[in-house]
Amino acid sequence: MFLGVDVGTGGTRAAIVDRDGRVLFSQSTEHVPISSPHIGWAEQAPEDWWRAAQASIRAVVKSAAAAGHVVESVGLTGQMHGCVMLDADGQVLRPALIWCDQRTQPQCDWLTATIGYERLIELTCNPALPNFTLTKLLWVREHQPEIFARIAHVLCPKDYVRYRLTGEYAIDMQEASGTLLLDVTHRRWSQEVAAAAGIPMSWLPSLFEGPELCGRITQLTAGITGLAAGTPVVAGAGDQGAGAVGMGILQPGSVSATIGTSGVVFAATSTPTKDTKGRLHTFCHAAPGIWHVMGVTNGAGLSFRYFRDTFAPHLSYDQLTALAAAIPPASDGLFWTPYLFGERTPHLDPNARAAFVGVTASHTLGHFVRAVLEGVAFSLKDTFTLFEELHIPVESIRLGGGGARSPLWRQIQADVYGHSVERLEAEEGGAFGAALLAGTGIGAWPSVQAACAATIRPVEVIEPVAAETMQHAYPHYRQIYPALREVTAD
Ligand code: XUL
Repeated sequence: MFLGVDVGTGGTRAAIVDRDGRVLFSQSTEHVPISSPHIGWAEQAPEDWWRAAQASIRAVVKSAAAAGHVVESVGLTGQMHGCVMLDADGQVLRPALIWCDQRTQPQCDWLTATIGYERLIELTCNPALPNFTLTKLLWVREHQPEIFARIAHVLCPKDYVRYRLTGEYAIDMQEASGTLLLDVTHRRWSQEVAAAAGIPMSWLPSLFEGPELCGRITQLTAGITGLAAGTPVVAGAGDQGAGAVGMGILQPGSVSATIGTSGVVFAATSTPTKDTKGRLHTFCHAAPGIWHVMGVTNGAGLSFRYFRDTFAPHLSYDQLTALAAAIPPASDGLFWTPYLFGERTPHLDPNARAAFVGVTASHTLGHFVRAVLEGVAFSLKDTFTLFEELHIPVESIRLGGGGARSPLWRQIQADVYGHSVERLEAEEGGAFGAALLAGTGIGAWPSVQAACAATIRPVEVIEPVAAETMQHAYPHYRQIYPALREVTAD
């Protein structure tokens, strides 16, 4: 049995997976909500992730033990890009700035001017974006120099949980790619970027490939979690990397579209495919020797949650989706642009704003819900359009997250992408992929590819039925952001 632990944004989930890919036990524990003391800020306390991780791990390990099972290895995954700052004694110095924090555009501009736009993409495969870890460190240097002066270690969220479990400062290649400090092509830290940014190399954790062993459960954490002392812990991957492993996205041509809080279209590649305009992220994959590209919509599942909480809190998601299912494709001309948290792909604009466009007195609540679901899919379609431009092949599309669980959202995605989409037997997210990496690390399978082949099974193919209508609507959707940019700019 292998344990995967996913330190997400809303909570931490632990899942115990067997060699057939069955999830035998799982448990989620919620986090304290994101603190956002100013518009665009997003912070969480690392100690809270550790509290939630302990509770979730303890619960599943207890259930497994009661059924006579032993956890053989552990893999970690979680929300990416967050910046955890520790002093020389491993004490947290301030709340972490997390992935959706948008305050660091000035630091991005400084970094781009200091290193040069092309050179930065050459070195890290990516441009400076407010989501990435390094820009958050630079903000702390500028605004809280007394804290910056005490930093001795920098970690991403799941790697802080690893530190508490094993005492090791370690990170995997896929997660490290999202710090903007990794030489993604050569899979090593970029001394040039660190030096130009003024970040000591000694602050950076040791680098490992996703299935590599990088620590063991300590005596202390064995007592707290119920895991056996000495249980091996593998590096794992960021949520997108582990999620892709859990969906079997490892070969060029295989692509996933996952709608969680954020929305991601993810393609595996055999070399680092750089977008010189920086609209796609190019990262190391969670398996050795391969890379991936992905486009990210910041406010995907978040759009639906925001809409419900704000305009229809008395209705369930299922009730809202039933209203939307009665509305024709393209929502009778109503559009939604989902830029609630600015946007990454394809606009790279932290100040982009969401909008309903084309409202008439005939539009009902169902139209608004359908427009939200379609707007999120259009936003992911923008990544497919970039894939076409960059000649990244798309042979199969597997769906993940909340967008895979709703039959209506599955059909909308097939129609908007103009391509069949696959549903998997078990779409279990990052914790499942992290467990497969954990099993591979101790030799249960000879490779990550073999782990996926043994455990992942598609069960349904959904063909497009309204592709023509949506293809006609897509250029209209594309015109909205440029038309509104000036209206919403401050
Ligand atoms: C990926 C990204 C999000 C976060 C939160 O680049 O920012 O997926 O990892 O889930």
